Amino acid sequence: MNWHGLELPEAYYRDDAVYIIHGDCRLILPLIPDKSINLVLTDPPYKDDFIWAYRNIAEQGARILKDEALLFAYAGSMYLPTILEETTKYLTWIWLFNLQHHQFSRIWHHEIMQTSKPIIALSKGNHAKLNWLRTDLPAESADKRFHKQWGQAIGIPCLIISKVTNETAIILDPFLGAGTFAVAAKKLGRKCIGIEISEEYCAIAAKRCSQAVMALPIEPNQKEVKSSEIFFPLLDGIEGKELRGLIENEHH
Ligand SMILES: C[S@@+](CC[C@H](N)C(=O)[O-])C[C@H]1O[C@@H](n2cnc3c(N)ncnc32)[C@H](O)[C@@H]1O
Repeated sequence: MNWHGLELPEAYYRDDAVYIIHGDCRLILPLIPDKSINLVLTDPPYKDDFIWAYRNIAEQGARILKDEALLFAYAGSMYLPTILEETTKYLTWIWLFNLQHHQFSRIWHHEIMQTSKPIIALSKGNHAKLNWLRTDLPAESADKRFHKQWGQAIGIPCLIISKVTNETAIILDPFLGAGTFAVAAKKLGRKCIGIEISEEYCAIAAKRCSQAVMALPIEPNQKEVKSSEIFFPLLDGIEGKELRGLIENEHH
């Protein structure tokens, strides 16, 4: 099927901004055209039997990302060394971001109180600038309304997408879940291709995306960012107010 000039596998759901494919991303990713994606933003399962997921998205990312485009992947801390070893075989290491939590989890065997979740950033080739994206991404509780087990909140994906892409971008989430990152992309006036293996979650993501309304672009890429803004909590800055309007609009 042709969608914005890209030949893609059959859609489970499509509209002008979102294209959802029901299937195993190991089989679907090889069918995504070369150099067609501006940002891979994804949240694979974190368990040890999903190390392949990070290797796979990096290997395929090296083909389907445009030159100097970025990959952001939420990750668990436990297997981070292996994840970095595997992903940097294919993409260039950029930085580690931390999604702050409101609560902490106890890592009993190390006696650690974990208050954040890592998000790794890599690029195809060199990417010099991330538009002053702060490394300590502001606290946001997980949103389990749509994906009971693993649902992420929408504020951080909105922040990442608005910082590192412009309105012409096509974003890819190969582990779409309940569609949080696709909804974020649509609300920001970007396009998103999502892949999800569970039909139940495809249906939830499709419903959410069909209800999401494209907003006027925030256009941070066109705006000069003052250094003082970088250190303001996301939801207190001017940019945060605009994002908050988008985030609070979603009903379930
Ligand atoms: C951590 S969840 C993503 C949650 C999502 N960010 C949200 O907020 O709803 C990971 C998702 O990957 C899906 N998944 C697991 N293996 C997959 C595969 N091989 N291909 C595509 N999706 C897969 C799971 O069904 C699950 O919904």
